[in-house]
Amino acid sequence: MTTVFTKQTTIPITELEQSAFCQTDGNLRTKTLEEEFQAGVRWQKVPTRYLKLTPEEISEGIEFARKEIDTKVVILGHHYQRDDVIKYADFTGDSYKLSKMAAQTKDAKWIIFCGVHFMAETADILTSPDQNVLLPNMAAGCSMADMAKSSDVTDCWDDIELVLGSTENVIPITYMNSAAAIKAHCGKNGGLVCTSSNADKAFDWALERGEKILFLPDQHLGRNTAISKGISEDEMALWNPFLPMGGLSEDEIKNAKVLLWQGHCSVHTRFTVDQIKAARERNSETTIIVHPECTQEVVSAADMYGSTELILETIANAPAGSSWGVGTEISMVRRLATENPDKDIFCLDPVVCPCATMYRIHPAYVLWVLEGIMAGLAINRIEVEPETQRNALVALERMLEVAG
Ligand code: 13P
Ligand code: SF4
Repeated sequence: MTTVFTKQTTIPITELEQSAFCQTDGNLRTKTLEEEFQAGVRWQKVPTRYLKLTPEEISEGIEFARKEIDTKVVILGHHYQRDDVIKYADFTGDSYKLSKMAAQTKDAKWIIFCGVHFMAETADILTSPDQNVLLPNMAAGCSMADMAKSSDVTDCWDDIELVLGSTENVIPITYMNSAAAIKAHCGKNGGLVCTSSNADKAFDWALERGEKILFLPDQHLGRNTAISKGISEDEMALWNPFLPMGGLSEDEIKNAKVLLWQGHCSVHTRFTVDQIKAARERNSETTIIVHPECTQEVVSAADMYGSTELILETIANAPAGSSWGVGTEISMVRRLATENPDKDIFCLDPVVCPCATMYRIHPAYVLWVLEGIMAGLAINRIEVEPETQRNALVALERMLEVAG
């Protein structure tokens, strides 16, 4: 009997919406929610009274709510959040730092996660059942995470097993930027989670335990990390989830040391080697620092690369007068420039193009969930289903142990 392969290539809606806030005039000023709703993306509906509030009115409302709430509320903010949200955060950080923060915040009844869906899910997995993790806008997903569907990952795993006879020596690693179900798959199958700040340690851990790595869902972080470990391009193969057997031959699957899932970040794949050349032509003293979600060509043309926290720390500790061309999300780059007025800090991409899902956390949504807490309501609570939670926790705890 022949199996007919019927999968169609689908592009996640979050990817199609990615350029919604891109502009050339450089203005990322927060407008009323009603005005921002004009951008062609899906927004979560909110009660109409939030639509016309100005940033000043929202600010007053947030300050009032925080004073009124008598249980502990912690607001976490990822570095890619806009300034008008980050100013309310009690803690800011990269995905690793924020996940550790969530795990350590034992006394907070409410954790408002200003970031994207996979980050809030991770916080829910790492906190106790009596803590409530709230994501202000449920439409704040991540296009990269949406590129790895759980059923496609299970099919891939079954295919690998069919070709190799067993998956015993294959260690699955998933980037934090993935759904809880993918993390659970890794936990169940001897693998772990990593973030951009500890992917190298996750690779070491995996290679001590197996012969092959299946890296999900960001091909670029996977490739850049493998190269940093001395693994050559010839030892890697790209798994296309829309093709039978990932589009690979049996020999390609057998010979690959690293199988890379065909996913990417649309924000970071905008950066190019030409932009780096232009930055160096402008000032030969400029140091180029990029995020490892950029392509291998960009990462190897840059002077340095690392997680958002590493980029932030490196620039904050750099000498006055230094110049930095940065390849990461614009809200963070602009904030870095404001916070370090003694340095020349600019984004490599001349088009102002924020991460469209991170940008969906408008401060009015933060006010909405805070007012919900005042009324005793858990608006937009993220709750990972118990079995998924158990298995995903295994993979996350391995990461926390490996990364320290
Ligand atoms: P960091 O872990 O470096 O914060 O990255 C998260 C992310 O989504 C980058 O696109
Ligand atoms: Fe996802 Fe890219 Fe946005 Fe990060 S920057 S949240 S990887 S879409």
